[in-house]
Amino acid sequence: MNNNNAIGGIFGFPRGLDEIPEHMQPMEQRTYLDGTIKTHEGAFQPVISPIINKEPMKLETPFYLGSYPLMTVAQAESVLATAVKTWNLGMGAWPMMPWQERITCVEKFIALMKARREDIVRMLIWEICKTVKDAYKEFDRTIEYIEKTIVEYRLLNQGTDTFRETEGFMTRVPRNPLGVVLCMGPFNYPLNETLTIIIPALIMGNVVIYKPAKYGVLLMEPLLECFAQSFPEGVVGSLYGEGPTVITSLMESGKIDCLAFIGSGKVADGIIKKHPFPHRLRLILGLGAKNLGVIFPDADIDLAVKECITGSLTFNGQRCTALKILFVHRSLAHTFIEKFSAAVDALPLGMPWNDTSSTGPIQTPMPEVGKIGWMWDYITDATSQGARTKNLRAGQVSGTMMVPAVLYPVTPAMKIYHEEQFGPIVPIVPYDDFEEVIDYLEHSPYGQQISLFTKSNIDLLSRQLANLVGRVNFDTQCQRGPDILPFNGRKDSAMGTLSIYDALRSFSIRTVIAKKP
Ligand code: G3H
Repeated sequence: MNNNNAIGGIFGFPRGLDEIPEHMQPMEQRTYLDGTIKTHEGAFQPVISPIINKEPMKLETPFYLGSYPLMTVAQAESVLATAVKTWNLGMGAWPMMPWQERITCVEKFIALMKARREDIVRMLIWEICKTVKDAYKEFDRTIEYIEKTIVEYRLLNQGTDTFRETEGFMTRVPRNPLGVVLCMGPFNYPLNETLTIIIPALIMGNVVIYKPAKYGVLLMEPLLECFAQSFPEGVVGSLYGEGPTVITSLMESGKIDCLAFIGSGKVADGIIKKHPFPHRLRLILGLGAKNLGVIFPDADIDLAVKECITGSLTFNGQRCTALKILFVHRSLAHTFIEKFSAAVDALPLGMPWNDTSSTGPIQTPMPEVGKIGWMWDYITDATSQGARTKNLRAGQVSGTMMVPAVLYPVTPAMKIYHEEQFGPIVPIVPYDDFEEVIDYLEHSPYGQQISLFTKSNIDLLSRQLANLVGRVNFDTQCQRGPDILPFNGRKDSAMGTLSIYDALRSFSIRTVIAKKP
C-alpha cells in the first residue's frame, strides 16, 4: 500500500497497483430489497471506475469495481406491490405507528450506517471520484442531517397528540404521510442527496422505494442491510437497473403517490409524464441550475477569485449549486480574468486521495461517459464565435480528466451562455450595467441562486433579486448548506423545498381532526 500524495503518471493517474492507496476489492452486488433482502438471478451491470490504471507498457484500463443487478419489469412491479401492501391505504403498521416509535427505527439505522462508514466512503471515492476529504464530509454531513431530522421531527410533533380548543371546536392537527414515495438521488451527491429525501419521507410514515443514481450505485449496497435491520418488512424497497425498465411501469400504475427526484429536469419530466393522474402525484424536485457569480466594480477581487474558484470548480464543477457563469464588470474584467485564470492553472489535478493541496479544489476524473466530449463541444462552440480560452492549460485532457477552461468573452450566441455545463468550464461575460444581469436572470429558465461580490447595496440588491432566485449570496459562493436553511429554486430549478426543517413538511400533509366540544 502506497498512500503518498505524489502526483505521478499523466494528470496523476496511477501507474500500476502500487500507486493506489488500497487495492479496490470488487463488490459483486447480488441483492436488492423487496420486503426482505432478495437475491437477483439474471443480468448484472458491470461498474468501472473513472480512475484509469496507466501502467507503462500495458493497455490503459479503468479499474473494475464490481456489478449490480439489472432488475426486470416484473421484479420492479413486485417491489411496488410490496410497498402498496405495506402502505395498505395508510392503515399499514408503519404509517399507523406512533411517531415516537418510528424514531427508534431511524436511530437504529444511524447506528448501523455509522458502522459502514469506511465501506461507503471507499466506494464514493472509487465510483465517482469524490476526494477523500469530501467523501468523508458527505458521509458525516448525512449522519448529522439524519440526527438533526430526529430533533426537528420531535419539535414538529409536539402538541399534536392532544385536542385543543379552536374557535368553538376541539381540534388536533397531526402531520400525516403521503403514501408510497419514489426517491431518486443524483450521482454527484449519491449518498447525501438520496438519504436526505429517503429519511424524512420514512420518518413521516411514508413507504419508500428508492433507486440509486446512474453512477454511485455500489456505495449504496451496505445500506441494504441497514434498512432491512432497522425498518419493518416492506417499508423500504430498492430498484436497480435501467431507469426506463424499472421506473416506467411503476409510474404508469398510478400507485406512486410522491416522486422525490434530484437530477436533470428532462429526466424528471419523462418520469412524471408517465403517471396517469398528474395532479395526484406530489413532486419534490431539485433540478437544473445556472447560478451566476457577479463581480461588481467595487468587489474585493482576491476574495471574489477565491470564492469563484471553489464555487465553480469544486468536484470539477459537478454540483447543482456550482457557479456556472460569471458576470464581471468591464472595468475590472482584465484584472479579474488574469488572477482567476492563474488560479485555475494552479489547481491540482490528481486522484481523490491526492487532495492535500491548499491552492484550491483538486480536479479529479469524472464518471459520466462522454463528459469530456460534451465539455469540448461547449469550448469549440464558444471559441468559434469569438471567445478565447484564457488559462494556459484550458481543456487539456487525459482519459477522464480535463483541465478546467476559462472562456471569455462569452455572449448570448454561445451555448455555454444558456446551458448548464455541470463540469469544469467557467464562462465569463463582461457587463456594463447591472440591468444586463437582471435581464439574464429574467430570460434564464433557472432560478436557484446567485452570488454577488460587492461592498454595498446589500438591502437593495437582495430585494431586487429575491423574487428571481431561491438564495442571494454576498461575498460567498453558492451552496446548499447549512442544511437547516431552505434549499429550493424558482422556475425550472426546483419544486418544493428541502432542508432539515422543510423536508419533513414536504413529505407530509396536515390532517385536521375536529369535534364539537
Ligand atoms: O448538487 C447539488 C448539491 O445540493 C449542492 O450541495 O452546495 O453543499 O455542494 P452543496
